[in-house]
Amino acid sequence: MRLPGRTAEHYPAVRVRPLVQGDLPAILDIEHQGYSHPWSEGVFRDAFRSGYQVIGIEQAGRLEGYAVLATLFDEAHLLNLCTRPASRGLGYGRRLLRELLMDGARRGLQRLVLEVRVSNQPARHLYQSEGFVVVGKRPGYYPDGAGREDAVVMALGLAGPADPTA
Ligand SMILES: CC(C)(COP(=O)(O)OP(=O)(O)OC[C@H]1O[C@@H](n2cnc3c(N)ncnc32)[C@H](O)[C@@H]1OP(=O)(O)O)[C@@H](O)C(=O)NCCC(=O)NCCS
Repeated sequence: MRLPGRTAEHYPAVRVRPLVQGDLPAILDIEHQGYSHPWSEGVFRDAFRSGYQVIGIEQAGRLEGYAVLATLFDEAHLLNLCTRPASRGLGYGRRLLRELLMDGARRGLQRLVLEVRVSNQPARHLYQSEGFVVVGKRPGYYPDGAGREDAVVMALGLAGPADPTA
């Protein structure tokens, strides 16, 4: 039973851990439910091979979401963040994002950057509420049916009061 006002973070069975290639079936299951244009298995395998940071959140041993982060020098790029559609709104997305932000700050990264579809209100709200600001736009960045959709570029400084747009 869930108590009113409680999020996933309050439940002890929730665990964030690094993911490995063996987690691919569970990742792909969520990816295919989560996106109209999901990443292929090959893209995830390349992410693992490239040493990107891939973390997941589990409850009672079941994967509920994951995030993929690429780091270049002192800047990180959030390439994917996705939670199981049936488990949204429980705090899993925010918990994954905070884990990456805290870890990035610990590692001395200056900035985390990401692209998000202009129309993706849930994700934009999440990023905004964690302090991300819009720093640009990429026209036609995403496939969208027969056409393309713009991306908003958002960034958050991780090294204190520095300007995230710098
Ligand atoms: C974006 C996403 C990861 C959020 O995951 P989640 O597990 O639902 O996130 P949380 O439960 O931690 O909610 C975090 C915040 O997201 C925002 N949010 C979540 N669902 C929302 C909705 N339906 N409408 C508006 N904002 C919403 C809210 O700001 C929420 O914070 P609050 O509960 O304090 O109001 C999830 O919707 C998802 O996987 N979407 C599909 C994949 C995707 O678009 N990823 C982003 C790529 S850039």
